[in-house]
Amino acid sequence: MQVTVPSLAKLNLDLRVLGKRSDGYHELRTIFQTISLGDRLTIGFESSKNPSLHLDSSIDIPDNLVLRAAELVVEKLKIRARIRISLKKKIPMGAGLGGGSSNAASMLLAIPALADKPFPIAEALAMATTLGSDVPFFLLGGTALGIGRGTELYPLSDLPRYSAVVVHSGIHVSTAEAYRALGYESITNALTSPPEFPMLGEFQTVAWSLNRSPLDQLSLKNDFEEPVFASHPQLASTARKLRRLGARPSLMTGSGSAVFGIFTSSQEASVAAAQFPPGTAHAVHFVSRKQYAKLWTRAVGRPSL
Ligand code: C5P
Repeated sequence: MQVTVPSLAKLNLDLRVLGKRSDGYHELRTIFQTISLGDRLTIGFESSKNPSLHLDSSIDIPDNLVLRAAELVVEKLKIRARIRISLKKKIPMGAGLGGGSSNAASMLLAIPALADKPFPIAEALAMATTLGSDVPFFLLGGTALGIGRGTELYPLSDLPRYSAVVVHSGIHVSTAEAYRALGYESITNALTSPPEFPMLGEFQTVAWSLNRSPLDQLSLKNDFEEPVFASHPQLASTARKLRRLGARPSLMTGSGSAVFGIFTSSQEASVAAAQFPPGTAHAVHFVSRKQYAKLWTRAVGRPSL
C-alpha cells in the first residue's frame, strides 16, 4: 500500500515570548495557522514479520525528525511492517515554517492509520511534544492557540481562506540562537499576571478579535522580529516590500527567516509573489482545521486530531 499524505507548513500569526522558564524553554503565547505550502511525503506500508524503515529524501537532513517520529510510533504501537518514506522538500528549512515538525507529525498521524491501530489523542500529543515544540500543532492544524513551550494547544475558530505570500531568501536562522538573542532573564513568578506582562492583555485582544475583524486591523506581532531583523536587515526590507505590494499585515513567522504578507485575493498574492526572485516567494492560502482534517481523511481514511 502506498499513500501520499499531507505535510503542510505553518505561519505564526502572532508570537509573544514572555521569558525564559526554569526548564530552559521560553514561555510563549502564539497563534498557529496551517497554509497550503507543503512537502511531498509518500509512505509505502506493508505488514511484515521482518520490519524495516527506510527514508528517501530529496535533501540530506541530519538527524531527520521524520525518521525519529516514525521509529517512535512504530515502537510505541508495536507495529511490524516494512515502511518506506519518500520526502520531497518544498517547505524551506530554517525558515520558521515548521517543515521538519510537520513531517514528523505526519508520521504520527499516518502510520497508526496505515497499521489500523488506534492512537489516543493524549499519547499522540505527548509523543509529538518529545519530538519538538511545533510538532503537536500539526496533529491538529487550522488555527490554534499555543501556550507554554508552544505545545499546549487549544483550537481557535477557523479563519476565512486568506491569501498570503511567503518569502524565503535562503537565510537560515537557528531557533535556539534566536531565543538566546532575545536575552531574557528567567521568569519564575506571576506568569499569568497581566500587570507584570502587559503583552498578555495585547495578545488576548488579538485572540478575541481574530474572527471578528480583518487581520489588517489587528495588532499582530512577532517578538523575534526585533533581534532577527537587527542581524539580517534584508528581512526587514522584505517585510517593507510586501507592504508596498499591498500586504496587510506583513510579519516574520516563528524565529524566522521567512516573512509573510496577507493579501485580499489570490490574484493580488500571485502578482506580489512574482515581484520576488524566482523560487523565493510562494503564493499560498490558509488551510482551516476542517480542510486539514478532510485532507487527512482523503489520504489515510482517518481525520487529523
Ligand atoms: O522544541 P524544539 O526542539 O523545536 O526547540 C528548539 C530550541 O528552541 C530549544 O532547544 C530551545 O533552545 C528553543 N526553544 C525555547 N522555547 C520554546 C521553544 C524552543 O527556548 N518555547
